[in-house]
Amino acid sequence: MVVSKHLVAVIDYGSQYTQLIVRRVRELGYLAKLYTPEEIGEIVQPGAVILSGGPRSTSEPGAPDIDFERLRSFNVPVLGVCYGMQLLNIKTGGTVRPSNCREYGPAALIPEEATGLYAGVSASSQVWMSHSDTVDHLAEGCRVIARNSEGVPVSLQWGENMFGIQFHPEVTHSHEGRTILRNFLSFAKELASFDIGDFKRELIEEIRARVGERQVVCGVSGGVDSTVLAVLLHEAGVNARCIFVDNGLLRKDEALEVEENFRKMGVKIETVNAADRFLAALAGETAPEKKRRIIGSLFIDVFWDAVGDAEMLAQGTLYPDVIESASNAKSKASVIKTHHNRVERVLELQAQGKVIEPLAFLFKDEVRALGASMGIPHDILWRHPFPGPGLAVRCPGEVTREKLEIIRESDAIFISTLRKWGWYDKCWQAYAGLIPVKTVGVKGDERSYEFATNLRAIVSEDAMTADWVQLPYDLLREVSNRILNEVKGTNRVLYDVSTKPPASIEWE
Ligand code: XMP
Repeated sequence: MVVSKHLVAVIDYGSQYTQLIVRRVRELGYLAKLYTPEEIGEIVQPGAVILSGGPRSTSEPGAPDIDFERLRSFNVPVLGVCYGMQLLNIKTGGTVRPSNCREYGPAALIPEEATGLYAGVSASSQVWMSHSDTVDHLAEGCRVIARNSEGVPVSLQWGENMFGIQFHPEVTHSHEGRTILRNFLSFAKELASFDIGDFKRELIEEIRARVGERQVVCGVSGGVDSTVLAVLLHEAGVNARCIFVDNGLLRKDEALEVEENFRKMGVKIETVNAADRFLAALAGETAPEKKRRIIGSLFIDVFWDAVGDAEMLAQGTLYPDVIESASNAKSKASVIKTHHNRVERVLELQAQGKVIEPLAFLFKDEVRALGASMGIPHDILWRHPFPGPGLAVRCPGEVTREKLEIIRESDAIFISTLRKWGWYDKCWQAYAGLIPVKTVGVKGDERSYEFATNLRAIVSEDAMTADWVQLPYDLLREVSNRILNEVKGTNRVLYDVSTKPPASIEWE
């Protein structure tokens, strides 16, 4: 694929951040690929090499190594991050001192000069440390190019274009990490650019090679990740079965919309209507965690009943899920641990090499770009997140059909109004939920005694924290008027002005 231009080879020593390095390089517009240390022989001619951090100590027996001769033979810029830097120091004749405690967290980076690797970097910049070993003696010809606030060397340079850094430039807590990576890459010549179209072709080749003639099953929810995965399988032309479980906890007309969207994209899906089973299982249950468990385990039963004997399973797992579960040198191979992605059945298939996760190296925005490159409509790619347990987590207390109906109708009004006013895309997530308390009101000339509707609209970057959106009063007035006039069963509309923390985005 890459002819005259060269990719950035990232050698994985097992740090939980390794994929982030790849991602940051891609963000800077260059093609980057991950290799194990043993694969260095397979790298043809990279444009630059980055050795990642890792959890091991270079002094441990059997610690991962590098074929230094081969690395030198590329004659390209090299950056060693943490473990990578220590390895470079040893390979060039220096020594590393093991330490019993791990330095973890923010530290000051004080470059000796604001040139080269540190061009444009502040005189003191916050970086993120996560290491236990430190360099001891430096090799001949190696010089210190930055220290921490105690004067300890945290960055080294050998010759013109080989660098070591003790910190992680790839994490956002290293405030100028992006500049440092960009500076490093500026030492390279003829770097290949990252192109989502090329990337898609590569993924498709990989899928074809893994799946072959077998049948691959994939669950779709209408959300971004599973939709992109299903369309990718479709483009790969493999024999795929896409299964969509309607758990009765979806939004107004959502099942129909999902079916219609896939139909338009030419991808066949099988809908399993299990609404009655879910609602029956939830009857009488009020405890939030129990409700979640009921929904989660029933989903697994319903999905696997529909699947039967799967030859292969495709999951739309993304890289952030991988990061959460990655914690050691074997992390590259570690499985994603969220929701139904980790149930026993999946683990069994995984052990047999029958699970593929083509999106596992991608972040959400990259998945969206991939989706856009396959013609998936904007509205699908930019749909607000929707939780697996669906409307049940927006319906505190017992879930009933009556309450779900109120939520659905109110939510449809709220969302369509946000779209009409141009606020949908400005919100990270928005929904209507129900407050299961009846209060007195007047509807027509009659006394009413009905539930309250709760509107929530938030902005967030990663769902870990969130702020409520200052929607225009007139928009809220329109939504409230319509809900009170059009939705049966509610006589009050409240706007949730709680930040996360301490509140969460969903109500349960
Ligand atoms: P909370 O309520 O924890 O939500 O602040 C954070 C984000 O996660 C979504 N969410 C879920 N997504 N399965 C999912 O796929 C779940 O069980 C689940 N629970 C919450 C929520 O909608 C928000 O975007």
